[in-house]
Amino acid sequence: MPYSGLSLEGKVALVTGSARGIGRTLALGLAEAGADVAVSDMAPRMEEAHGVQAEIEAMGRRSGAYEVDVLNVPAMRQSVDQLVADFGQLDILVNNAGVRVRRPALEVSEDDWDRVLDTNLKGLFFCAQAAARHMVPRGSGRIINIASQLGTVAAPNRSAYCASKGGVVNLTKVLALEWTALGVTVNAIGPGPTVTPGLLETDTRSEEELQRDLEAHMPLGRRMQPEELVGACVYLASPSASATSGHHLIVDGGWTAI
Ligand SMILES: NC(=O)c1ccc[n+]([C@@H]2O[C@H](COP(=O)([O-])OP(=O)(O)OC[C@H]3O[C@@H](n4cnc5c(N)ncnc54)[C@H](O)[C@@H]3O)[C@@H](O)[C@H]2O)c1
Repeated sequence: MPYSGLSLEGKVALVTGSARGIGRTLALGLAEAGADVAVSDMAPRMEEAHGVQAEIEAMGRRSGAYEVDVLNVPAMRQSVDQLVADFGQLDILVNNAGVRVRRPALEVSEDDWDRVLDTNLKGLFFCAQAAARHMVPRGSGRIINIASQLGTVAAPNRSAYCASKGGVVNLTKVLALEWTALGVTVNAIGPGPTVTPGLLETDTRSEEELQRDLEAHMPLGRRMQPEELVGACVYLASPSASATSGHHLIVDGGWTAI
Protein backbone atom coordinates (compact mmCIF):
# COMPACT_ATOMS: atom_id res chain seq x y z
CA MET A 1 0.00 0.00 0.00
CA PRO A 2 1.41 3.46 -0.86
CA TYR A 3 2.55 5.62 2.11
CA SER A 4 -0.63 7.39 3.28
CA GLY A 5 1.29 10.53 4.34
CA LEU A 6 1.64 11.37 0.65
CA SER A 7 -2.01 10.78 -0.24
CA LEU A 8 -4.00 13.75 -1.55
CA GLU A 9 -7.37 11.97 -1.35
CA GLY A 10 -10.18 14.46 -0.66
CA LYS A 11 -8.07 17.51 -1.53
CA VAL A 12 -8.85 20.07 -4.24
CA ALA A 13 -5.99 21.61 -6.21
CA LEU A 14 -5.66 24.42 -8.72
CA VAL A 15 -2.65 24.57 -11.05
CA THR A 16 -2.14 27.79 -13.03
CA GLY A 17 -0.78 27.54 -16.58
CA SER A 18 -1.61 23.83 -16.67
CA ALA A 19 -2.68 23.42 -20.30
CA ARG A 20 0.85 22.27 -21.16
CA GLY A 21 4.42 21.82 -19.92
CA ILE A 22 5.31 21.50 -16.24
CA GLY A 23 1.85 22.68 -15.11
CA ARG A 24 0.09 19.95 -17.08
CA THR A 25 2.38 17.26 -15.69
CA LEU A 26 1.98 18.52 -12.11
CA ALA A 27 -1.82 18.63 -12.50
CA LEU A 28 -1.83 14.99 -13.66
CA GLY A 29 0.58 14.03 -10.87
CA LEU A 30 -1.57 15.62 -8.16
CA ALA A 31 -4.59 13.77 -9.56
CA GLU A 32 -2.65 10.50 -9.54
CA ALA A 33 -1.89 11.16 -5.85
CA GLY A 34 -5.63 11.42 -5.19
CA ALA A 35 -6.56 15.10 -5.58
CA ASP A 36 -9.39 16.60 -7.58
CA VAL A 37 -7.60 19.07 -9.85
CA ALA A 38 -8.78 22.22 -11.60
CA VAL A 39 -6.82 23.02 -14.74
CA SER A 40 -6.41 26.66 -15.76
CA ASP A 41 -4.75 28.72 -18.43
CA MET A 42 -5.15 31.75 -20.70
CA ALA A 43 -7.98 31.95 -23.28
CA PRO A 44 -5.91 30.73 -26.29
CA ARG A 45 -4.93 27.56 -24.40
CA MET A 46 -8.41 26.53 -23.18
CA GLU A 47 -8.74 23.76 -25.75
CA GLU A 48 -5.54 22.17 -24.43
CA ALA A 49 -6.78 22.81 -20.87
CA HIS A 50 -9.98 20.89 -21.60
CA GLY A 51 -7.81 18.02 -22.87
CA VAL A 52 -5.94 17.92 -19.53
CA GLN A 53 -9.28 18.09 -17.71
CA ALA A 54 -10.44 15.02 -19.66
CA GLU A 55 -7.24 13.14 -18.76
CA ILE A 56 -7.83 13.87 -15.06
CA GLU A 57 -11.48 12.84 -15.23
CA ALA A 58 -10.42 9.60 -16.93
CA MET A 59 -8.39 8.88 -13.76
CA GLY A 60 -11.66 9.02 -11.77
CA ARG A 61 -11.05 12.46 -10.22
CA ARG A 62 -13.15 15.58 -10.44
CA SER A 63 -11.73 18.29 -12.67
CA GLY A 64 -12.66 21.48 -14.44
CA ALA A 65 -10.98 23.89 -16.85
CA TYR A 66 -10.94 27.56 -15.82
CA GLU A 67 -9.78 30.52 -17.84
CA VAL A 68 -7.26 32.22 -15.57
CA ASP A 69 -4.93 34.84 -17.02
CA VAL A 70 -2.75 35.80 -14.07
CA LEU A 71 -2.18 39.22 -15.68
CA ASN A 72 -5.86 40.03 -15.16
CA VAL A 73 -6.13 40.15 -11.37
CA PRO A 74 -9.89 40.92 -11.02
CA ALA A 75 -10.87 38.15 -13.50
CA MET A 76 -8.43 35.74 -11.85
CA ARG A 77 -10.06 36.41 -8.45
CA GLN A 78 -13.49 35.70 -9.93
CA SER A 79 -12.29 32.40 -11.40
CA VAL A 80 -10.79 31.32 -8.06
CA ASP A 81 -14.07 32.18 -6.31
CA GLN A 82 -16.01 30.25 -8.97
CA LEU A 83 -13.74 27.25 -8.54
CA VAL A 84 -14.31 27.26 -4.77
CA ALA A 85 -18.08 27.49 -5.38
CA ASP A 86 -17.87 24.54 -7.82
CA PHE A 87 -15.62 22.27 -5.74
CA GLY A 88 -16.61 23.47 -2.25
CA GLN A 89 -13.01 24.13 -1.15
CA LEU A 90 -9.46 24.86 -2.32
CA ASP A 91 -6.65 23.03 -0.53
CA ILE A 92 -3.67 23.30 -2.88
CA LEU A 93 -2.55 26.07 -5.25
CA VAL A 94 0.34 25.42 -7.61
CA ASN A 95 1.46 28.80 -8.92
CA ASN A 96 3.03 27.60 -12.15
CA ALA A 97 2.08 30.10 -14.91
CA GLY A 98 5.25 31.73 -16.17
CA VAL A 99 6.98 33.23 -19.18
CA ARG A 100 10.61 33.67 -20.14
CA VAL A 101 12.58 36.14 -22.24
CA ARG A 102 16.12 35.32 -23.35
CA ARG A 103 17.75 38.62 -24.33
CA PRO A 104 20.94 40.52 -23.47
CA ALA A 105 20.28 43.08 -20.74
CA LEU A 106 21.23 45.88 -23.14
CA GLU A 107 18.34 44.89 -25.41
CA VAL A 108 15.57 44.15 -22.90
CA SER A 109 12.56 46.38 -23.61
CA GLU A 110 10.17 47.81 -21.05
CA ASP A 111 7.51 45.46 -22.48
CA ASP A 112 9.78 42.43 -21.99
CA TRP A 113 10.44 43.46 -18.41
CA ASP A 114 6.78 44.10 -17.58
CA ARG A 115 5.54 40.88 -19.19
CA VAL A 116 8.00 38.72 -17.27
CA LEU A 117 7.71 40.48 -13.91
CA ASP A 118 3.93 40.92 -14.14
CA THR A 119 3.35 37.24 -14.97
CA ASN A 120 6.02 35.49 -12.89
CA LEU A 121 5.97 37.68 -9.79
CA LYS A 122 2.94 40.00 -9.61
CA GLY A 123 0.50 37.43 -11.04
CA LEU A 124 1.89 34.74 -8.73
CA PHE A 125 1.50 36.97 -5.68
CA PHE A 126 -2.12 37.85 -6.40
CA CYS A 127 -3.02 34.20 -7.15
CA ALA A 128 -1.47 33.24 -3.80
CA GLN A 129 -3.46 36.00 -2.11
CA ALA A 130 -6.73 34.92 -3.80
CA ALA A 131 -6.18 31.31 -2.72
CA ALA A 132 -5.08 32.23 0.80
CA ARG A 133 -8.26 34.29 1.27
CA HIS A 134 -10.13 30.97 1.01
CA MET A 135 -7.56 28.83 2.85
CA VAL A 136 -6.90 31.02 5.90
CA PRO A 137 -10.55 31.04 7.14
CA ARG A 138 -10.46 27.19 6.99
CA GLY A 139 -7.09 27.12 8.77
CA SER A 140 -5.43 24.92 6.15
CA GLY A 141 -3.86 25.09 2.73
CA ARG A 142 -0.78 24.48 0.64
CA ILE A 143 0.70 27.02 -1.76
CA ILE A 144 3.48 25.83 -4.05
CA ASN A 145 5.24 28.43 -6.16
CA ILE A 146 7.19 27.29 -9.20
CA ALA A 147 10.40 29.31 -8.98
CA SER A 148 13.61 28.16 -10.71
CA GLN A 149 17.20 27.31 -9.95
CA LEU A 150 17.69 30.74 -11.59
CA GLY A 151 15.97 32.23 -8.54
CA THR A 152 19.18 31.54 -6.63
CA VAL A 153 21.94 31.71 -9.26
CA ALA A 154 22.40 33.94 -12.30
CA ALA A 155 22.54 33.22 -16.02
CA PRO A 156 23.40 35.65 -18.81
CA ASN A 157 20.59 36.99 -21.01
CA ARG A 158 17.98 36.32 -18.31
CA SER A 159 17.87 39.62 -16.41
CA ALA A 160 14.09 39.90 -16.16
CA TYR A 161 13.58 36.15 -15.64
CA CYS A 162 16.22 35.87 -12.89
CA ALA A 163 14.85 39.00 -11.19
CA SER A 164 11.33 37.53 -11.24
CA LYS A 165 12.37 34.13 -9.92
CA GLY A 166 14.64 35.61 -7.25
CA GLY A 167 11.58 37.59 -6.21
CA VAL A 168 9.48 34.42 -6.07
CA VAL A 169 12.02 32.69 -3.80
CA ASN A 170 12.04 35.51 -1.25
CA LEU A 171 8.30 36.23 -1.58
CA THR A 172 7.70 32.56 -0.72
CA LYS A 173 9.50 33.12 2.58
CA VAL A 174 7.51 36.26 3.39
CA LEU A 175 4.19 34.51 2.73
CA ALA A 176 5.36 31.54 4.82
CA LEU A 177 6.11 33.91 7.71
CA GLU A 178 2.63 35.44 7.48
CA TRP A 179 0.48 32.39 6.75
CA THR A 180 2.11 29.28 8.29
CA ALA A 181 0.71 30.03 11.76
CA LEU A 182 -2.70 30.42 10.08
CA GLY A 183 -2.47 26.86 8.69
CA VAL A 184 -1.26 27.63 5.16
CA THR A 185 2.24 26.47 4.21
CA VAL A 186 4.00 28.27 1.38
CA ASN A 187 6.91 26.67 -0.47
CA ALA A 188 8.65 26.89 -3.82
CA ILE A 189 10.07 24.35 -6.25
CA GLY A 190 13.15 25.33 -8.23
CA PRO A 191 13.29 23.30 -11.44
CA GLY A 192 16.43 23.16 -13.56
CA PRO A 193 16.17 23.10 -17.37
CA THR A 194 13.17 20.93 -18.19
CA VAL A 195 11.93 19.90 -21.62
CA THR A 196 8.63 21.75 -22.18
CA PRO A 197 7.00 23.53 -25.13
CA GLY A 198 7.88 26.88 -23.58
CA LEU A 199 11.56 25.99 -23.16
CA LEU A 200 11.86 24.64 -26.69
CA GLU A 201 10.15 27.74 -28.20
CA THR A 202 12.59 30.18 -26.61
CA ASP A 203 15.85 28.19 -26.65
CA THR A 204 17.21 28.77 -30.12
CA ARG A 205 20.73 27.48 -29.41
CA SER A 206 22.35 24.86 -31.63
CA GLU A 207 22.66 21.28 -30.33
CA GLU A 208 26.41 21.90 -29.94
CA GLU A 209 25.91 25.03 -27.81
CA LEU A 210 23.32 23.20 -25.71
CA GLN A 211 25.68 20.27 -25.06
CA ARG A 212 28.47 22.67 -24.02
CA ASP A 213 26.07 24.38 -21.58
CA LEU A 214 24.88 21.08 -20.10
CA GLU A 215 28.47 19.85 -19.67
CA ALA A 216 29.43 23.07 -17.89
CA HIS A 217 26.36 23.43 -15.63
CA MET A 218 24.34 20.25 -15.39
CA PRO A 219 25.83 17.27 -13.51
CA LEU A 220 22.80 15.23 -14.62
CA GLY A 221 24.17 15.62 -18.16
CA ARG A 222 20.78 16.20 -19.78
CA ARG A 223 17.70 18.36 -19.48
CA MET A 224 15.07 17.14 -17.04
CA GLN A 225 11.62 15.81 -17.88
CA PRO A 226 8.55 17.42 -16.21
CA GLU A 227 7.73 14.06 -14.55
CA GLU A 228 10.90 14.48 -12.47
CA LEU A 229 9.20 17.36 -10.60
CA VAL A 230 6.01 15.53 -9.63
CA GLY A 231 7.31 13.90 -6.44
CA ALA A 232 8.48 17.25 -5.05
CA CYS A 233 5.08 18.79 -5.74
CA VAL A 234 3.10 15.90 -4.26
CA TYR A 235 5.30 15.99 -1.15
CA LEU A 236 4.82 19.74 -0.59
CA ALA A 237 1.04 19.37 -1.14
CA SER A 238 0.75 16.39 1.20
CA PRO A 239 0.12 15.89 4.92
CA SER A 240 3.80 14.85 5.19
CA ALA A 241 4.87 18.43 4.56
CA SER A 242 2.84 19.97 7.41
CA ALA A 243 6.03 21.39 8.97
CA THR A 244 7.73 22.40 5.72
CA SER A 245 7.19 26.08 4.94
CA GLY A 246 9.26 28.85 3.41
CA HIS A 247 11.40 26.27 1.65
CA HIS A 248 12.76 26.44 -1.91
CA LEU A 249 13.04 22.81 -2.96
CA ILE A 250 15.54 22.87 -5.81
CA VAL A 251 15.22 19.99 -8.28
CA ASP A 252 17.81 20.93 -10.86
CA GLY A 253 19.96 17.94 -11.78
CA GLY A 254 22.75 19.38 -9.64
CA TRP A 255 23.00 22.75 -11.46
CA THR A 256 23.34 24.78 -8.24
CA ALA A 257 25.72 22.25 -6.63
CA ILE A 258 28.60 23.46 -8.81
N1 LIG B 1 11.05 24.46 -18.39
C1 LIG B 1 12.04 24.86 -17.63
O1 LIG B 1 13.21 24.62 -17.93
C2 LIG B 1 11.77 25.61 -16.35
C3 LIG B 1 12.83 25.75 -15.43
C4 LIG B 1 12.60 26.45 -14.26
C5 LIG B 1 11.34 26.99 -14.00
N2 LIG B 1 10.36 26.83 -14.92
C6 LIG B 1 9.06 27.44 -14.61
O2 LIG B 1 8.04 26.47 -14.71
C7 LIG B 1 6.82 27.11 -15.08
C8 LIG B 1 6.22 26.40 -16.28
O3 LIG B 1 7.12 26.54 -17.36
P1 LIG B 1 7.09 25.59 -18.64
O4 LIG B 1 8.50 25.35 -19.01
O5 LIG B 1 6.17 24.46 -18.44
O6 LIG B 1 6.50 26.63 -19.71
P2 LIG B 1 5.40 26.49 -20.88
O7 LIG B 1 5.50 27.75 -21.65
O8 LIG B 1 5.57 25.20 -21.60
O9 LIG B 1 4.03 26.47 -20.06
C9 LIG B 1 3.66 27.62 -19.34
C10 LIG B 1 2.15 27.70 -19.26
O10 LIG B 1 1.84 28.91 -18.55
C11 LIG B 1 0.81 29.57 -19.25
N3 LIG B 1 0.83 31.03 -19.03
C12 LIG B 1 1.71 31.94 -19.49
N4 LIG B 1 1.32 33.19 -19.15
C13 LIG B 1 0.17 33.03 -18.44
C14 LIG B 1 -0.74 33.93 -17.83
N5 LIG B 1 -0.56 35.26 -17.91
N6 LIG B 1 -1.81 33.44 -17.18
C15 LIG B 1 -2.03 32.11 -17.11
N7 LIG B 1 -1.23 31.19 -17.71
C16 LIG B 1 -0.15 31.66 -18.36
C17 LIG B 1 1.06 29.24 -20.72
O11 LIG B 1 -0.11 29.46 -21.50
C18 LIG B 1 1.48 27.79 -20.64
O12 LIG B 1 0.39 26.91 -20.71
C19 LIG B 1 7.16 28.57 -15.31
O13 LIG B 1 6.87 29.34 -14.15
C20 LIG B 1 8.64 28.53 -15.57
O14 LIG B 1 9.29 29.74 -15.30
C21 LIG B 1 10.53 26.17 -16.09
